[in-house]
Amino acid sequence: MEYQTPQFFRLMQYAAAAERDVVELVSGGPDWNAPPAIGEGLHEFADLDGNDYQYPPSAGLADLREEIAARRGVAIENVVVTNGAGEANSLALAAALDRDAGTEVLLTDPVYPYYPGKTQLFGGVPRYVPVDADGSLDPAAVRERASDETAAIVVNTPNNPTGAVYDEETMAELVEIAAAHDAILVSDEVYDHFDYTGEFASALAVDSPHRIVTNAFSKSMAITGFRVGYGVFPDELVDGVRSRHMLVNVAGSRPAQYAVLRALRGTGPEYYERNRERLVRRIDGFTDALDDTGAEYTAPDGGFYVMARFPEFPGTMKNAERLVDEAGVAAMPGETFGEARADWFRFALVSPEIETAGRRLVDFFG
Ligand SMILES: Cc1ncc(COP(=O)(O)O)c(C=O)c1O
Repeated sequence: MEYQTPQFFRLMQYAAAAERDVVELVSGGPDWNAPPAIGEGLHEFADLDGNDYQYPPSAGLADLREEIAARRGVAIENVVVTNGAGEANSLALAAALDRDAGTEVLLTDPVYPYYPGKTQLFGGVPRYVPVDADGSLDPAAVRERASDETAAIVVNTPNNPTGAVYDEETMAELVEIAAAHDAILVSDEVYDHFDYTGEFASALAVDSPHRIVTNAFSKSMAITGFRVGYGVFPDELVDGVRSRHMLVNVAGSRPAQYAVLRALRGTGPEYYERNRERLVRRIDGFTDALDDTGAEYTAPDGGFYVMARFPEFPGTMKNAERLVDEAGVAAMPGETFGEARADWFRFALVSPEIETAGRRLVDFFG
């Protein structure tokens, strides 16, 4: 079987081995702290007795599932706690492809590279829908490519890598298109706490057996290492999803889930607000620097990433390596996200050294 290995490991290794100081803007791991309740929860867990060190329920701690269900306005039975949004996306794609209702998976171009990788891993065939210049997805373009061969439509809002945020109308139409072709809309909403426009709309707003929503605490609580996420699956699919989750993992991590539950209950909106404000400041500063490089870029409406295109410097892996060696900045080459943005680079603004990176890019291109 052929499937793609994500490229970002390769570039991070290259940057780490470089002989000069490099600002790493490749990976999407937050550089700010988790809410204090995460650490408190872990300390509390450490003092529990041996019984609490054993397997949690496979679908996740009941109190955590209940808390998620209450917050998202869904039934607890539809919530499966997963090892990050990554596992939730895998479960969603596998479930959609298992229905024998087509083998094609509609993805956007540019795309988060794990989606085509997972699609192929589960025997599906990726098909791409181009997005508009500003990153927005026109549902009419999805409708045009959808057919009865479509097993799933996978979208990500706020979007990695474009920074686009899809509104309520778009989400409703995407669910409707999936339903019309007996397919599943998979909406990956892992950046939902990083919407800078107020336009973000979860696919959960539309109740349908044809939509799955995936999410995680990895980004919103700055705990990518904890591996706690979840999916909201329709009644028709949730039993199969739970079995697959159990067969692959047995269960998730009890201490991580315990700490997340504690943090969900003990963290106010100011924590999330502060993180959004920090990112907006970084986006403003970084795009100001890009102005001085002559780059074209899209200022993101959400998420962590800025895409930019520099004159006569296409986003190939070779040029990404040149940026490491000659500018001291590591960024993802656009070609890893598909064809549409092959000339671009993606900068993850999750480093305290964004200003330095901006200055270095101005020096290099200016
Ligand atoms: C769009 C998207 N989905 C899923 C993930 C993975 O999330 P998790 O770490 O919760 O598995 C990422 C991580 O960068 C992402 O960008």
